[in-house]
Amino acid sequence: MAYELQLAGRNAFVAGGSSGINLEIAQRLAEAGSRVTLISRSAEKIDAAARSITGLGGQALGIAADVRDFDAVEAAFSQAKDKFGEIDIVISGAAGNFRVPALGMSANAFKAVIDIDLIGTFNVLRASFAHLRKPGASLISISAPQGAHPEMFQAHACAAKAGVNMLTKCLAMEWGPAGVRVNAISPGPIAGTEGVARLAADPTLEAAWKDRLALRRYGTKRDIAGLALFLSTEAGGYITGAILNCDGGSSLGDASADALSVPPRG
Ligand code: NAP
Ligand code: COA
Repeated sequence: MAYELQLAGRNAFVAGGSSGINLEIAQRLAEAGSRVTLISRSAEKIDAAARSITGLGGQALGIAADVRDFDAVEAAFSQAKDKFGEIDIVISGAAGNFRVPALGMSANAFKAVIDIDLIGTFNVLRASFAHLRKPGASLISISAPQGAHPEMFQAHACAAKAGVNMLTKCLAMEWGPAGVRVNAISPGPIAGTEGVARLAADPTLEAAWKDRLALRRYGTKRDIAGLALFLSTEAGGYITGAILNCDGGSSLGDASADALSVPPRG
């Protein structure tokens, strides 16, 4: 029997959906038939994001809401459910990042990233629960390699995304019996995104980064959306508590020509 990969009649909620990877996920979910509610801080950006879906015949609602504000997130879920019905798919992808050594990082700079990435993800997932279709809902956080691998000048993001990974596993255990799956996607460097612009802006570094990747290329937003789509359908129905790398092999380590040219011992 063929897998059901279409999402007609389903409802998705995408936090941080005004741009980049999260907007691409929202657009691809809509293309598969899902109605989509998007939230982000900027009313102008989130309205434009919703219009990018409705303009192509999809159904979308854009709401300005800050993931750091639990009540605002809760209100957005209520609005989404009133308009479209119970929520089947949640994407928690709002994030902030900048490169700075720990000794150049104020307490507020550390807190800013923890508040958006980690507390924001808790707020989105926690607020979603009452509004989910159960059993069957699929919750997906957008994590990052920093959640598993320490990185210089990324103390805030590493701490925040490690928290997101552990939160994913804890909620998967608590909410699995209700038929709610909770997973995270950890993207590698994704071309044409704010994340790469902020963390790998130097074009001379870009070639070196790509050379270290087993697949020798940056990912695309579409690569990440494909995995989110899979996790949202019957095909991914037995996956929960997983942190799924979608990274061209970056988490495997250095696969550069230099590393390959070292002759094997013995
Ligand atoms: P992006 O375009 O800057 O996306 C971040 C989104 O979060 C924006 O839509 C932003 O919209 C929203 N946002 C920020 N603060 C918010 C808040 N307090 N409340 C609500 N929304 C907020 O960046 P991206 O590079 O596509 O990254 C998307 C996700 O992928 C992030 O979780 C990031 O950590 C992860 N990731 C990215 C890469 C990469 O290569 N790009 C790699 C690994 C992981 P507003 O400004 O309108 O609020
Ligand atoms: N280096 C060092 N500190 C920095 C910094 C940088 N590049 N950028 C911001 N900060 C500090 C600020 O100085 C402030 O600390 P202070 O009060 O001690 O001066 C603190 O971080 C908070 O900054 P603020 O601008 O008030 O935060 P915000 O909540 O308005 O914005 C950010 C959050 C800083 C993460 C902002 O870059 C943002 O909105 N990013 C979203 C997009 C993004 O990062 N996308 C990539 C996702 S991977």
